[in-house]
Amino acid sequence: MTTVPSVDATKTNGTDLTQHDLFAATNRAYDMVFKGTVDFFVIKAAKDLGLFDLLASAPRTLADLATLTETVPPRLEKFLITMEQIGLVTRQGDAWQLTPFADQFFADPERHRNMTMVPFVDYIADLIENYYLRLADVVRGKVDFTSIVPHPPRTREDSLFYETLHRSNIQLFTELLIKRARLADVQTLIDVGGGIGDIAAALCQAFPQLKVTLINLPSALDLVRENVAAKGLADRITPVAIDMYREPYPPGDAVLFSRILYPMNAQFCTMLLRKAYDALPSGGRILILDMVISDPNHPNYDYLTHYLCAIGMGFSVLEFKDHAVYPDLLRQVGFTDVTLDEGYEHVLYQAVKP
Ligand SMILES: C[S@@+](CC[C@H](N)C(=O)[O-])C[C@H]1O[C@@H](n2cnc3c(N)ncnc32)[C@H](O)[C@@H]1O
Repeated sequence: MTTVPSVDATKTNGTDLTQHDLFAATNRAYDMVFKGTVDFFVIKAAKDLGLFDLLASAPRTLADLATLTETVPPRLEKFLITMEQIGLVTRQGDAWQLTPFADQFFADPERHRNMTMVPFVDYIADLIENYYLRLADVVRGKVDFTSIVPHPPRTREDSLFYETLHRSNIQLFTELLIKRARLADVQTLIDVGGGIGDIAAALCQAFPQLKVTLINLPSALDLVRENVAAKGLADRITPVAIDMYREPYPPGDAVLFSRILYPMNAQFCTMLLRKAYDALPSGGRILILDMVISDPNHPNYDYLTHYLCAIGMGFSVLEFKDHAVYPDLLRQVGFTDVTLDEGYEHVLYQAVKP
């Protein structure tokens, strides 16, 4: 569906779509039903068959691939042709290979640690099986959401599961943070809910004087320690077990909330901003890095996958809030000099304690 046939764009009544609009709407509806189905389930099957990993190491023939994946060659060929149609593989002579796009997002997650979809594929497949297929019953109140891995995480394994998801899509907004964060004169940064430490590590690499105190849950601390030690930053990044909702924050020259505040209502955000204010000296800075969830032209499907889960919870803080509220909230708490930088569908607000 790439061209519009030359027919009159007439409206039959006030609510009908014009022929031109109808064409655009058809594409959107096709994307919702056909594209969503083909894209996700082909990716899931290709991952289960091990095709991304096999093809990441070298181009391979159909016969080779069929042997290695224990599949039926004529079936596998049709499957590869489908993958080719949706931009995951190409064929050169009789060898199949991954496209650069598929290699980046679906092969070798260790190599693409901060920009990979691999951990999300199994996570979403589990949600489909255990929850999304019963969503109507969730709305009817007959089914509740139960998380596959306990949340909040309690054990190292629980935290590893969530931190692996969190660290998988930080590459682009970390660039925004490094380029725009005013941290050149900051000695100690408090990274509230700092994940596994990849963002803190990138900041330490960009700002050589910086030390980071990283707040996380007890079950995540060893993961952070091991990660920052592997990056040679054990002496500059110190993880501490503090409940970011209930306890005061340790003192520092700057406080970072990276992807912490976006789902919380204004009242909850204000409570956390006040904790940051109390931890800072005069001249101290606050940084809020959030993904944008409120752009009417770009629904945030990453956030929506979580928001749908919140439908099935008795209580959830998840809601839709416009990030434009932050300047007012920051000023109410006492911060001044609020600035905004935007990029990659993320925002970075910074402000100063007078
Ligand atoms: C959405 S992730 C954000 C991680 C990281 N800042 C980023 O932008 O990728 C939330 C982080 O907060 C941590 N966390 C959750 N509840 C917490 C609590 N009550 N106190 C401290 N940390 C918490 C999680 O373990 C996780 O590392």
